[in-house]
Amino acid sequence: MALSFVTSGQSHGPGIVAVVSGLPAGLEPDRERLRRDLGRRQAGYGRSPRQSIETDDAEILGGMRHGRLIGGPVALIVRNRDHENWGAAQSAWPVTEEELADIAARRTRTVVVPRPGHADLAGVLKYDLPDVRDVLERASARETSARVAVGALCKDLLDRIGISVHGHVVRVGSVAAPAYGDLGPADFGVLDERQVGCLDAAADAAMVEEIEGAKRDRDTLGGIVEVRAFGCPPGLGSYASEELRLDARIAGAALSIQAMKGVEIGEGWDNASRRGSAVHDELRYEGGYRRDTNRAGGLEGGMTNGEPVIVRIAMKPLPTLMKPLRTASLDTHEPAEALVERSDTTAIWAAAVVAEAVIAFELARAAKEKFGGDAIEDFVAAHRHYLSRIPWSPEAP
Ligand SMILES: Cc1cc2nc3c(=O)[nH]c(=O)nc-3n(C[C@H](O)[C@H](O)[C@H](O)COP(=O)(O)O)c2cc1C
Repeated sequence: MALSFVTSGQSHGPGIVAVVSGLPAGLEPDRERLRRDLGRRQAGYGRSPRQSIETDDAEILGGMRHGRLIGGPVALIVRNRDHENWGAAQSAWPVTEEELADIAARRTRTVVVPRPGHADLAGVLKYDLPDVRDVLERASARETSARVAVGALCKDLLDRIGISVHGHVVRVGSVAAPAYGDLGPADFGVLDERQVGCLDAAADAAMVEEIEGAKRDRDTLGGIVEVRAFGCPPGLGSYASEELRLDARIAGAALSIQAMKGVEIGEGWDNASRRGSAVHDELRYEGGYRRDTNRAGGLEGGMTNGEPVIVRIAMKPLPTLMKPLRTASLDTHEPAEALVERSDTTAIWAAAVVAEAVIAFELARAAKEKFGGDAIEDFVAAHRHYLSRIPWSPEAP
């Protein structure tokens, strides 16, 4: 069965739900990884006070027993602790006149001032909604908590075939990390000591300064995150049909994350201005196929090529500014100031964690297509058999 998932829920509703189908029976999810990844999504310098209200955890509602998946869809919920503070304003069912009056009198009033850069305006027009809140509650990146939980399960699956996925921050506003050459999984351990998720300590400190400056000016920042996946064998994805091309799926998954506006695979943008002789990664054979460079970022012909997968994603500055931008009221059409609501100055480290999760999902989906397996041992055995057939090993010869 193909790997797929769907999420449901709003930012201040009872919680964000995910239902994942196609994970093999017998997989033993790592509870600590699930908690840790949800915690990492909430971390990073520049987040709003909401992150101290919530301490995310995922409750498994179905598909697992005694720590092992049992073959049915896995349902999970990440509860929104902040929901308690919203009362009737987030009720799924109709509310009374008194409750409506109370909602109108408090911060939870109807929102009629759409934010430039957010889903607000197009959302109310498209769905014929009376209140921008109906849009922002679902458009909000709170939804990514469920995607991170799904990503953690996918990492558990990838672990079984020796694939690991690591995100980090390479730019915040005008501050860039130094260029990195080869990195290995062990290099990402230092991120626990960083505030913004940058491998380089000096750049991480400069990024904190950059965020402080934007916060002082009541402004916001974006940046660039990078995800590297190690241990991918050649041949995940396919050139055979456009919907199977893994580079396209990864790019689509990356852009499906709120606020992501550009994707680069390998040295994609720089390669566009170079000659072919300076771009393509030459092959050698020493007990297995290898290359000395990886400008392609591990993907050729819509497939992994055996080198680490490298993806960079550009995040725009967040659209909710404490110094509101100009907008037009949905009620009066008069000039107005856009909604100001508790918001992050930047969520760049969280974005790296979410990017890690969505790319882990795409790699797990491609691996599941390649190796099949209703039971985890069948999946692992198919991978082992494949590696015994091809002249490639995860370790460089
Ligand atoms: C982890 C994460 C946290 C975010 N936090 C905020 C936030 O606090 N305030 C905000 O205005 N936008 C935030 N965003 C971005 C908005 O959700 C996004 O810009 C909006 O939904 C419009 O979608 P688009 O930018 O993809 O076009 C966040 C995005 C991510 C990935």
